[in-house]
Amino acid sequence: SLVPMTEFLPRAKKEGFAVGQFNMNNLEFTQAIAAAAKEERSPFIFGVSEGAMRYMGLDYVVAMAKIAAKEAGVPVALHLDHGSSFEVAMKCIQAGFSSVMFDGSHYPFEENIRLTKEVVKAAHAVGVSVEGELGTIGGVEDDVQVDEADAALANPEEAIRFWEETKVDAMAIAVGTAHGMYKGEPKIRFDIIEAVSSKIDAPIVLHGGSGVPDESIRKSVGLGVGKINVNTESQVACTRAVRKLLDENPEMIDPRKYLGPGREAIKETVKEKMRLFGSSGKA
Ligand code: G3H
Ligand code: ZN
Repeated sequence: SLVPMTEFLPRAKKEGFAVGQFNMNNLEFTQAIAAAAKEERSPFIFGVSEGAMRYMGLDYVVAMAKIAAKEAGVPVALHLDHGSSFEVAMKCIQAGFSSVMFDGSHYPFEENIRLTKEVVKAAHAVGVSVEGELGTIGGVEDDVQVDEADAALANPEEAIRFWEETKVDAMAIAVGTAHGMYKGEPKIRFDIIEAVSSKIDAPIVLHGGSGVPDESIRKSVGLGVGKINVNTESQVACTRAVRKLLDENPEMIDPRKYLGPGREAIKETVKEKMRLFGSSGKA
């Protein structure tokens, strides 16, 4: 069954590992992530963006996630990724999501706090966990687009106050990562992670986990990052496998013949991340 992130995030922060949020884009992603978790004995979070929800349909998402969780046999949270409004968060909760993110990072600080608090109040009343965001993460992810120039790091004092007032279960702060693949190496502000993490109970969430060097991931987790989001790397692995097969076999027409290997490539990517994050064996 689906569980809120509070089932595993407090332990992750205490024991110094992070749980991966892997985005669910279609059936193959759903199956690949569940299979990886089963083999690694790792808890995980299915991230569903509003774009992915439009693509699959809300009821398909919930039904597939429930079956995948049963199949994986590990704690699984079904989480709205970058939710843009109270309404969309409530719609997801009513449909069966166990966790939601409210991304109010583009609102003025006080407004972000006020709106996030409303989501927390309604979600916590029905046992659903909440992630909030402060500072803006650069790059592109579905509906969320931020120019590098507009990407703003989170201010530690504000992040601490944000948490104290909202009591979100996971705190996403912009620390230098970006959505999508990097052009260069990301410069992660470990000092911001440390300053905020040491002062709040909730773990820090690292968005844009794709393309971040393993060493930076390990260091972040050691400083209090307890949730890491990965989407682009899984997409790249899948598409690379599919493209190679189609290039080499122009006569291939059965989608199962190329989507199967695409699914396998996603699974391997997710397994590697689970080991890197230290969540393997923690289910
Ligand atoms: O919210 C989702 C993530 O932040 C994914 O970022 O596509 O760069 O891995 P990514
Ligand atoms: Zn994100």
